[in-house]
This record gives sequence, C-alpha cells and structure tokens, in this order.
Amino acid sequence: MALASTVWDANLYLKFADARMRPALDLMGRLDPANAARPGHAIYDLGCGAGNISRILAERFPGAPVIGIDSSEQMLEKAREQTADPRVSFAKGDLAHFKPGAPPSILYSNAAYQWLPGHIDMFPGLMELLPSGGQLAIQMPRNHEAPSHALMREAANAGPWAAKLAGVGGISPVVEPSRYFDVLKPFSSDLEVWETTYQQVLTGKDPVAQYTSSTGLRPFLEALSDAERGPFYETYAKMVAAAYPTRADGITLFPFRRLFIVARRA
Ligand SMILES: C[S@@+](CC[C@H](N)C(=O)[O-])C[C@H]1O[C@@H](n2cnc3c(N)ncnc32)[C@H](O)[C@@H]1O
Repeated sequence: MALASTVWDANLYLKFADARMRPALDLMGRLDPANAARPGHAIYDLGCGAGNISRILAERFPGAPVIGIDSSEQMLEKAREQTADPRVSFAKGDLAHFKPGAPPSILYSNAAYQWLPGHIDMFPGLMELLPSGGQLAIQMPRNHEAPSHALMREAANAGPWAAKLAGVGGISPVVEPSRYFDVLKPFSSDLEVWETTYQQVLTGKDPVAQYTSSTGLRPFLEALSDAERGPFYETYAKMVAAAYPTRADGITLFPFRRLFIVARRA
C-alpha cells in the first residue's frame, strides 16, 4: 500500500465507505424532518470529509441547504469533485472554532469529534447555536481500548522509531456515555445516548491495518520518515493480524464500538 501521504488519505478512507456508512445512517435515522424544513436554516455536516454523508443528508431532506465543514483541503477537494447537487456546499473550518454562517437547524457530525481534544466541552456551545427543537447529532468511535488501537502504541514502542513516536497521541479518548449525557442534559428537551458494536466484515490483505491507516494510525504514520513508515506499518499490521485472524472464508471480522448522541434543543 502507499504510505507516503501525510495528509488525510481520501481514497483510502473511501475504500471503507460501506463499513463506515452504516453508523452514519443509523445516526441520520434519528433526525427530525421538521428541522430540515425550517426556512432560512441549514443542516451542517461537521467534519464532512469527502462529503459522502453531506450528499445523503441532502437527498434525505430535500429543501434544506447542507453545508459540509472540514479542515482538510484534500477532503474538501474530493467532496467538491464528487458533488453535483447545488444545495450542498463545502467550506474550510476548524471544528474547535466553529461559527456557522447561516443559522443551523441540525448540527450533524459523523466520526469527527474524536479528533478534537476536549470535544465534550464544545458540545454545550453547539447546543446554544440551535433553535428550540433543533438537533445536535454526533457519532464517535469508542474503540480506543480495543486491540486495533492499543496495538498502535505497542507497535510504536517496538522499533527504532520508539523515541520519535513517544509523544504521538492517537485520537482523543471518547469518554463514558454518561458524561456526555450529563453535559447535554441541561440544554436538551430530548436526549438519547447509546452505543452499538458493529461486527464489521473486512476482506483483503491487512484488512484491519488498512482500515485504521486512514484514521487512528494516521498520526503515527505522519510522525515518521518515508523510510520508517513501511517497517512501522508492517510491525503494526502483523500484530493486528494476530489479534483479528482471517477466517477460512476470507473474512476478517472487526468489531467496532461507536457512541451516538442525539440531543434536541430545549
Ligand atoms: C473519519 S473522517 C469522517 C468524514 C465524514 N464525516 C464521514 O463520515 O465520511 C474525519 C474528518 O474529520 C476532519 N477533521 C478532523 N479534525 C477536524 C477539525 N478540527 N476541524 C474540522 N474537521 C476536522 C478530518 O479532516 C476528516 O475529514
């Protein structure tokens, strides 16, 4: 595989679009169409990546403008390339300092806020941007204790790159579901927090390592030189292959826990 890129690899991420789509749709299923029909309001897709979900939001909620926000030029370029619907637009922005241009009726975010340290403290501010009845809908992986993620640190310690990777953090831990509930409750008329563990079906060579290469493993790969990146990846890939064996039918099951939050502004 190509491991030279040190930015978000949109192509690698899209390779796993199907496995990652399901939680995005499960989250979308809890959105109230009445919010999408509020005149003068927009649906925001925060951390929109290549815009796959932004486009589905627009299809699912005809009438509402959908605005995707992301900090990665590469992802935004891909998103613009792939989007023909004039109702969907994209803008560069850092979620840590999000300020909507148009008032939001729905703030939707799939698999992005885990990248922001201290994200829990940002959620009350997001609720305050919404009108009464508006919705905040967030999905984040909560899999950082699983072997796929624990082995990143183990591989980081297991080679000549150890000193270089000593200070590298992966995604910031997504905390206990009850903490999100407590923080959002004072702002919410309705609040749902739940978790689902998906038994993801992967195939091909190094399926789990390939999967995490475009997300959680990325900060480790970015910290290394081109010469180090391959051997580090191989070390990690070998470790995860032992933790997630490929079955006789060629399938590798990759259980993955995700946290969902849907809060309706009081
Ligand atoms: C795992 S991808 C998810 C993309 C999309 N939501 C999806 O489900 O297909 C995470 C995205 O969050 C973006 N991201 C990470 N930190 C961000 C930040 N501080 N501000 C804006 N976007 C950020 C990344 O650039 C990346 O596109």
